[in-house]
Amino acid sequence: MPEPHVFQSCLDAYQQRVNSALDKYLPKDDPPEHNLAEAIRYSVIGGGKRIRPAMVYAAGEAMGVSTDLLDIPACAVEMIHAYSLIHDDLPAMDDDNLRRGRPTCHKAFDEATAILAGDALQALAYEILAKDDHAELTPHHRIEMLSLLTEASGAHGMAGGQAVDLASVGKHLDLEQLENMHRLKTGALIRASIILGGMCKQNITEDEINILSNFSLCIGLSFQIQDDILDVISDTETLGKPQGSDEEQEKPTFPAIIGLERSKQLALEQHELALKHLEPLDEKADSLRQLSAYIVERLF
Ligand code: IPE
Ligand code: IPE
Ligand code: MG
Ligand code: MG
Ligand code: MG
Repeated sequence: MPEPHVFQSCLDAYQQRVNSALDKYLPKDDPPEHNLAEAIRYSVIGGGKRIRPAMVYAAGEAMGVSTDLLDIPACAVEMIHAYSLIHDDLPAMDDDNLRRGRPTCHKAFDEATAILAGDALQALAYEILAKDDHAELTPHHRIEMLSLLTEASGAHGMAGGQAVDLASVGKHLDLEQLENMHRLKTGALIRASIILGGMCKQNITEDEINILSNFSLCIGLSFQIQDDILDVISDTETLGKPQGSDEEQEKPTFPAIIGLERSKQLALEQHELALKHLEPLDEKADSLRQLSAYIVERLF
């Protein structure tokens, strides 16, 4: 058994916290005609690293925000992420049948239910941010958070990146095009997760936002590089999703374009750059530092 990662105990605590908040916000009961709530719960609960909620909590912690304030943005980013995975696995996209060690949503239910589960999760993410009744988060504050998350998820963020990914199947991308695609499809939501955590500090300065933003761009890229690497070097059981899926589908990935060793090197370089960006912050940012290491050292 490998030693647990130094970030693991922190991640466990964040996971517990976000899991109980998610349980509170996810729909519970279905009418007799359909099982949408069941499909939503199936896809969100019982799996996943919860790395984006961890980003919200760790960034908030770095800015001295009370943890109570962070549950809603943490749930919101995980809902957007879960929706993106349900749709990513559909036959029209990556056509995968295993996710988080279980049949994908469209296999466990059906395609229409999977599409709707994704739609509903996306809507719920925005709903909980809009409705949040913490007195500390003013309506103005919540609108700013909403616009950050919608922009990160839409055509100029995650959805746009997924479109580039699908349009690039079987094509050769150069390194710049590949990095740009990764920044959109994965990096945008990761950046939003970090900044949402920071934005819960009422009087966050522009300098602090810039530090978090620069940090998030590095870990967003290293996260997807590591995801691409694991698709090559890991195995289906460890990953909980089909190993080798990228190569089989001729996806443009870092290992496919620059090779495995350079990909690993590039992920490490991004981690080091991420740490450099955090230098002006004190020890309250240590969870963020460990999180960056975890991203490039993780095995699944
Ligand atoms: C997988 O994300 C999809 C990508 C954006 C690369 P994660 O590796 O965070 O998936 P879970 O949430 O842990 O299942
Ligand atoms: C998915 O990227 C990115 C989003 C869902 C936005 P991948 O297609 O590489 O994710 P996995 O490998 O299936 O988890
Ligand atoms: Mg994909
Ligand atoms: Mg996929
Ligand atoms: Mg992948």
